Amino acid sequence: MIREPASFLWGAATSAHQVEGNNIHNDWWQWEQKTPGAVKSGAADDHYRLFREDFALARELGHNAHRLSLEWSRLELKEGQWNEGAIDHYREVLECLRENGLASFVTLHHFTNPMWLSKRGGWENKETPRLFARYAEMVAEHLGDLIDFWVTINEPMVYVTQSYWRACWPPQRHSLRATLKVIRHMAYGHRLAYENIHRVKPQAKVGIANSVIAFSPDSERKVGDKLAAGLNDWWYNHRFFGLTKGTHDFIGLNYYFPRKLGVKIMPLRVEQMPVSGLQSDLGWPIKAEGLTHILSYMKRYRLPIYITENGLADADDSRRADFIRDHLRAIERAQEGGADVRGYLHWSLLDNFEWIEGFKPRFGLVEVNYETMARKPRPSAYVYKAIIEQARK
Ligand code: FCB
Repeated sequence: MIREPASFLWGAATSAHQVEGNNIHNDWWQWEQKTPGAVKSGAADDHYRLFREDFALARELGHNAHRLSLEWSRLELKEGQWNEGAIDHYREVLECLRENGLASFVTLHHFTNPMWLSKRGGWENKETPRLFARYAEMVAEHLGDLIDFWVTINEPMVYVTQSYWRACWPPQRHSLRATLKVIRHMAYGHRLAYENIHRVKPQAKVGIANSVIAFSPDSERKVGDKLAAGLNDWWYNHRFFGLTKGTHDFIGLNYYFPRKLGVKIMPLRVEQMPVSGLQSDLGWPIKAEGLTHILSYMKRYRLPIYITENGLADADDSRRADFIRDHLRAIERAQEGGADVRGYLHWSLLDNFEWIEGFKPRFGLVEVNYETMARKPRPSAYVYKAIIEQARK
């Protein structure tokens, strides 16, 4: 049984570009229009208009928390100019969460950048941390009274890897120098934003949502494999926390899958080895025990932990209910071992625009018909609801 179920936060997560629709002023939108083969996000889930319906559904499904992101490019349409219309819109959104009894987790940066920022070099520009912190301050002043938990940056390591190393997301750069620079700038941006938010709202709870992977060596007997797993763990799971020490009020973790690493020679390389068992529709291995493992050493930060994302692409909903059950059990086990986990946000409330994968992967507790925009909770959404109700009894 989840510890302290009465105060535990149960819910789901989304992000602006993936659900709102028509985010025409950010770099992803621009990139989708001009890149051959790229899927266009278009109207996405039309959540910008339908948020009331979606939050009422979340409440009906037993949730008491919800994570969403604000779209920076809507709020700061032109550099230094705050868009009153967008501020009012997000006030309505956050008030609607309150009305539905949903605690809010609000992300400030979830992969997209305003076009004006991207034209200035995005996160490679050394001015960007300051510009980001100014945006955070504006949000604290105008919307801070309605925000329960702040997530400054979503998955900095994923962003930097995809955009500056693998070159598959905008701005499609492949440069070690840029990669290291962007990480430094994002860390600095987080620290400045943390200070600004706290200056305006001293009681604010501020953190990040860090993507974590449960790395393991292919063979426990091979020093090389163990070294590869250890180094990846340090770099991917902990480096950003290290660069931002002292500026977290909680630890936010996005967990999806484990990764087994083996070192091969001639030529020397590290390879991802196959992981046995079930997979999601995207081929991501499903291993709930990886979450227990991650949580067991995230204890070291001595901060409350929230699972800010966890889920799978599962169009026929054949694996989602078990996935949720197993990952909640994994959390219980970690709690028994002393990890202070206080909430679980499933990815996602709705099917949505899954970046370069487009609309094919179905991550939603709720199915979205993209022709009619109709919403229909999947059976697993009711299983999750029953688990929540049972825990609260
Ligand atoms: C995470 C992202 C989120 C979503 C899920 C499937 O890495 O934060 O936007 O795409 O993966």
